[in-house]
Amino acid sequence: MTTSTSVSSQRWSSRWLFVLAAAGSAVGLGNIWKFPYIAGENGGGAFVLIYLVCIAAVGIPIMVSEVLLGRQGRSSPIHTMRKLAKASGRSQRWSVLGWMGVLAGFLILSYYAVIAGWAVNYVWLSGSGAFEGASAQAVGQSFDDFLASPFELIAYQTAFMILTIWIVGRGVTQGLEAAIRWFMPLLFLLLIALLVYSFNSGGFDQGFAFMFDMKWDAVTADSWLIAMGQAFFTLSLGMGTMMAYGAYVPDDANLGTTVVTIAALDTLIAVAAGLAIFPIVFANGLEVAQGPGLTFVTLPLAFGQMPFGSIFGALFFLLLSFAAITSAISLTEPALSFLVEEYNAKRQRVAISLGVICWALGLGTVFSFNVWSDVTFVGGLTFFDSVDYFSQNILLPLGGMLITFFAIWLLPRGMVEQQLGIENPILGWAWKVVAGIVAPLGVLAVFLSTIWPMLSGLWQ
Ligand code: TRP
Repeated sequence: MTTSTSVSSQRWSSRWLFVLAAAGSAVGLGNIWKFPYIAGENGGGAFVLIYLVCIAAVGIPIMVSEVLLGRQGRSSPIHTMRKLAKASGRSQRWSVLGWMGVLAGFLILSYYAVIAGWAVNYVWLSGSGAFEGASAQAVGQSFDDFLASPFELIAYQTAFMILTIWIVGRGVTQGLEAAIRWFMPLLFLLLIALLVYSFNSGGFDQGFAFMFDMKWDAVTADSWLIAMGQAFFTLSLGMGTMMAYGAYVPDDANLGTTVVTIAALDTLIAVAAGLAIFPIVFANGLEVAQGPGLTFVTLPLAFGQMPFGSIFGALFFLLLSFAAITSAISLTEPALSFLVEEYNAKRQRVAISLGVICWALGLGTVFSFNVWSDVTFVGGLTFFDSVDYFSQNILLPLGGMLITFFAIWLLPRGMVEQQLGIENPILGWAWKVVAGIVAPLGVLAVFLSTIWPMLSGLWQ
């Protein structure tokens, strides 16, 4: 590896490091607190099957398109789009896609750091035995008190942000790769330890049934949309993260198998997270709650009732913190690589400036839980909810659709086939149908179904 900071000359040390880095980006809060719950609620095993179809038909094609564009352009997403639009005789306006990704990354990271900060705080809280034998009311109250204190939230948000910026500022090999070499194996080990613990908790059968029994009656049209949206978000698609990481992929790596491996790892971890969480909840006769309530109230309560619960509770939050940090570092890469290239600037300096702006924006999220909890924007959403809605439901799906459309229909002939090593014309044709038609239409369906209620609400 050279010491140059230019994007075009940097490479992952091996194909496996790219797999781990991309999996690190993909595995995040979405896998650990969202997937298990929505699977249980939307038909268990039936939903898992639907989800696998969405990963295969929508997620994988879009990820391949992103990585392919990144490797072809070998620059930051904005420059890659500029270069490739030029090479294919298309308008330079396609670089807007890169800008949308930079914006989305900023917005997502601003609140991701706040929530990840909660996980960091709960490592200490659980480990110190604060929840041992505590009542449901006490555990709920301690979460409410924490959210009500802006200073505490800011302290953990700041700590998480400093760590993220420190890692990304060190560059691809010394920063991203070094973090991934540590955090990913630790994440796997923690997950295995928690699985063994939950297997012996006494609630395993019930937890397993909640996630895997084929409950086809619970499947609705909405379940398909939820599965598709989840497949998209969990694989970190739509904002150029995978394009930015793709720029460092070695030429000889086979993109198809690489992307399938990443998607498989992400799915495996989501399923394992469910199997680690639900048995512990059911073993203690608790109800499954959603999102933050499940993670920061139900789980600490359940761990608090069990032998060695403080230790395993702390390990669970450590797992969540590691998953969040490897996602957070990936959110900065599109913006960071662009600024470094454009201004030939020092990566560290750019990282710090980005971090400060993102941190300041995150204060809005912090205040949404306390001093600004009554301040609402369009559609009655708080600052945090607005940022979350705009980035996840508007910027990402739009980005994802346009990226695949560009990669499949507008690149010069033969470029995709060459990047993917496709020689058989039938295979090339099948690829075009899935990636060029099925995947963008799937995302379009999710996009319209989420923004429709919002738009019709505005007109009333
Ligand atoms: N995939 C992550 C999760 O499941 C979130 C994430 C990280 C993300 N980077 C992203 C989502 C880029 C979209 C785009 O929590």
